[in-house]
Amino acid sequence: MEDLERKKIINYFNYNISLEHSAIVQYLFHAYTLGECEIEGELEEIAREEMKHLRAFAHKVVQLGGKPSIDKRASVFLHAPTPLELIKLDEEAEELAIKEYKNQYKDLKDETAKKILERAIDDETSHKEIFKHLQTKLKEKNTKAIFDENKQKIISILNTVLQDQYAKILEHLYQSFILKFKNPHLSDELEQKAIDQMKHFGWLAEEVSHMGGEPSFDLKPIKKLEDPKQIVEETKKEEKEQKEKFSKLAREIEDKNLQWILERIAKREIHYTELEEFLSKDKHKNRRYGKNNLCTHSRKPI
Ligand SMILES: [Fe+2]
Ligand SMILES: [Fe+2]
Repeated sequence: MEDLERKKIINYFNYNISLEHSAIVQYLFHAYTLGECEIEGELEEIAREEMKHLRAFAHKVVQLGGKPSIDKRASVFLHAPTPLELIKLDEEAEELAIKEYKNQYKDLKDETAKKILERAIDDETSHKEIFKHLQTKLKEKNTKAIFDENKQKIISILNTVLQDQYAKILEHLYQSFILKFKNPHLSDELEQKAIDQMKHFGWLAEEVSHMGGEPSFDLKPIKKLEDPKQIVEETKKEEKEQKEKFSKLAREIEDKNLQWILERIAKREIHYTELEEFLSKDKHKNRRYGKNNLCTHSRKPI
């Protein structure tokens, strides 16, 4: 491949990563704030597809010798006066992506890069249709919960946790992308870790939203580790800290449902001793992750 083409793909795909990144944040934020089961499910499903796009773009960037710009985000439109207008914003985000990807498709020669774009264009086109459909289904209604003063403190604690989790998701994704070809097994594990943390993020963000607060999607600076040894060491340390942090929070918080979620997160921290063993065995372990995609209000403490 010509060097010019290579650089072009890296630049384009890094921009696409920022587009996908903002789409994920925007759709998840809308899902949590709308809080209506069916729409929430649709938005979360679409966000998951955007994650797949982000992943494909990032892998290509790394394969071509670039660094994925996982900590850059394009514009995010979080607020609108009505649910209907909120979904309209999402439709517009799809339109922007489709236009951009089509232009890139025309401009590029490399077949594998074009394939990735083609797949994304197909998906974004269906997403646009889904958002149109949701708009016709949506009746205007006030989804804002009544703000309870007693919950302000918990909301602010949870939002700090959310910002922290968000940064960790990005850190693990970065590590996973960077190691994709150098250390595929560790890369897979780190990706699983990020996916797990996304779930935790979702549970907590839903809680914040149901308490009448607004989940924080503030983007903090991230550490970009690339050395496998250092990554394993840091992750081990981090897991221990996270486990303690969530257990402590669970003890401090009175709300039973939230307590249950926090304890669940604390328990789900994977022990790295287990992972190290797994990596040395050189084969995949069939690990199942508990929670189905249910809306929080239908989730009961055990
Ligand atoms: Fe996408
Ligand atoms: Fe999309």
